Amino acid sequence: MCGIVGYIGNKNTKEILLEGLKELEYRGYDSAGIAVLQNGTFSNYKAVGKLVNLEEKTKDFTTKDFAVGIGHTRWATHGKPTELNAHPHLGESSYVVHNGIIENYAELKKELTQKGVVFLSQTDTEVIVHQFEKNLKTPLEPFEAFAKTIGELQGAYAILLVTKSQPETIYFAKHGSPMIVGINAENEKYFASSDTPLIGQCSDVHYFEDGDYGYVTPKEIAIFDKSGIKKQPLFKKLSTNKLSAQKEGYRFFMEKEIYEQSVVLADTLMGRISDKEIRFDELPHDLFEGVQEIKLCACGTSYHAALTASYLFERHAKIKTSVEIASEFRYREPIMSKDTLFVVISQSGETADTLETLKMAKEAGLKTLVICNVDNSSMVRLADAAILTRAGIEKGVASTKAFATQVAVFWMLSLYVAGERKSLPKEEIERQITLLREVPATVKVDDATHEQLKRLSKRYLHGHGFFFIGRDVFYPLALEGALKLKEISYLHAEGYPSGEMKHGPIALADPELFTIALLPQHMLYEKAKSNVEELSARDSTICAVSAVAFDKADDFIPIGVCKDYMLEFFEMMVVLQLLALEISIRLGNDVDMPRNLAKSVTVE
Ligand code: G6P
Repeated sequence: MCGIVGYIGNKNTKEILLEGLKELEYRGYDSAGIAVLQNGTFSNYKAVGKLVNLEEKTKDFTTKDFAVGIGHTRWATHGKPTELNAHPHLGESSYVVHNGIIENYAELKKELTQKGVVFLSQTDTEVIVHQFEKNLKTPLEPFEAFAKTIGELQGAYAILLVTKSQPETIYFAKHGSPMIVGINAENEKYFASSDTPLIGQCSDVHYFEDGDYGYVTPKEIAIFDKSGIKKQPLFKKLSTNKLSAQKEGYRFFMEKEIYEQSVVLADTLMGRISDKEIRFDELPHDLFEGVQEIKLCACGTSYHAALTASYLFERHAKIKTSVEIASEFRYREPIMSKDTLFVVISQSGETADTLETLKMAKEAGLKTLVICNVDNSSMVRLADAAILTRAGIEKGVASTKAFATQVAVFWMLSLYVAGERKSLPKEEIERQITLLREVPATVKVDDATHEQLKRLSKRYLHGHGFFFIGRDVFYPLALEGALKLKEISYLHAEGYPSGEMKHGPIALADPELFTIALLPQHMLYEKAKSNVEELSARDSTICAVSAVAFDKADDFIPIGVCKDYMLEFFEMMVVLQLLALEISIRLGNDVDMPRNLAKSVTVE
C-alpha cells in the first residue's frame, strides 16, 4: 500500500527520500516518485515499477545543502499504475503526496475543471494540489489556503504538500491514514507514514492524530487539531534497533520469515507462560469481567488467525465467540451489545477496514482489544488494551510468522480466560502450557521436509485448481494454506471444511484437481480421512499432510508425531507455507512482492 516520506534539512535530500521509500517497499507498490524544492526550483521524478527504476531515473540528479523533499510509493486505487498517476502530483507551483482516498474528489474535480484547471492524472489525489492553488489565489496565505483545502476534503488521508510560495515548509494533514514527524539533534525534520524509514535518522517522533494538520519548517513544528486549535507535539523516543531485515542467505524474505518462526514464537511466549498459568501483564485485570461474548474482526491472514481463535475460545474459555470479516462488518449494521469484548487482529495495525470496525466498537461503548505486531500503530493506540505478537518486522507480503504468533497469542489468551473463569481444570491448563512450550521446536523447519517440498512442487504447477481441506482448526489452516498459494503463485486455490466437499465442491474432482488434505492424528482423523477417500474415489490428485501414513494419497508429506492437535497445527502450517513458497519460486514469481498485493491495506 502507499507509503510517504518527507524531509527538511541540509543532507542529501534525494538519497534520504529514496532510502526512506526503500524501507516502505515491503508494503507493496506499483510506482514511485519524489519532488525536491531547492533554491526555488522543483525537481520531480517518477517511475513505474520497482524503486530501482526511480533510482535509475534520478542517477544524474544531485541535491546538496538545504532542500525540502517529499516522496511516495503508490499502490494504484484511482487510475492505472502509470507515471502520470504516480505521486507527487503537480499544480502550478506546488507538489502533493497522499495516502488514502479523497471520497469527494469527483465533485471537486468537476468544479476545478469548470474553472479551467487541466488535470494530468486519473487520481483522486491531484484535486488536493489544484484545490490548494485555487485557494491560494483567493488570495490567502499559503497556510490558510492549505487549512481551507483540508477542510474541503472528505475521506481518508495522510498528505504532504510543498509549494514555491513558502519554500522552506512542508504542509501536512492526517485523517484516517498514519503519519509521523521525526526530529534529530541536527535539526532535521523527517516525515513518514510508518516508523521504519525514520529509525536511524531520528531520535524522537510525534504521531499525528486524526484531524491534525499544520506545517513544519527548519525552526518550527506547528500542529493544529480538527477544531483549528494549536497543540504541542508529544515526542516519544524512537527505537534505534533497525531490525532492518536482511535476507541472511535466504532466497526471499518470506523464506527467512518461515525459518524465523521458531525464534519469534519463543519471543511471543516469553514472560507469558509459567508452569501453572498464563500471564498477560499488559491487560487490564478486569478486561474479561462481565464479558458474555467475544467478537473477533480482521482481514486476510489475520482473519484466519481469528477463525482459529474462535474454536479455542469456545473450547477452552466457554465463551460464545463470533468472527467477522472487517469489510463486511462495517456496513452490515451489526448489533453490538455492551457485554461483548471486541477484538481486532492485525499484523500492521493499520488496515483501514479493521481500524474502522475498532472505531465503531469504541463508539458503541464496547471494551476493545487489539492483537497486533506493530507497537504504536493506529489500532494499538486506539484500543483499550493491546497484546503485541512480537513477530518482528515482516517484509514478505504473504504473511507467515505474523500468523504463527497471532495463533500462539490466541491459544495463550484462551487459556488465560479459561484460568480466570475456571472453565478448564487446572491440570488441563498446565498440560496445554507444556504443549505451548513445545511450539518453537515444533515449527523448526525440517531439512528433509523442505527438500521433499522442493521436489514435490514441480508436480503442482498446472491443473485447474487446488482444494485445501481440513476440519476444526485445520479448516482455518486450510483457508490460510490456500491463501498463501493464491497470493504468491497466482494459481487458483480454495480452502474448505473437509465435511463440505460433498455439498458441491466435489463436482470439480478429477485428476487435474489437487487436494491438499490436512489429516491430523489428534483431531477428527477418521472423519477427515473418509472425506479425503471420497475425493480420491473421484480421482482427485491427493497430497496428504499427516503423521499417519495414508495409502490413498498420491503424495504424502509426513509431519512429526505430536502429542496434541495444536502442535500438529503448527507443523502443518510450516508445510503449507513452504509448499506455497516452492511452487511460487518454480513459477519464477516475485515471492516477496506478489503482483497486485500490498502488505498494509490502508484504504477500504
Ligand atoms: C493485506 C496483506 C495480507 C494481510 C491483510 C490484513 O491484504 O497482503 O497479508 O493478511 O492485509 O493485514 P493486517 O495488517 O491487518 O493483518
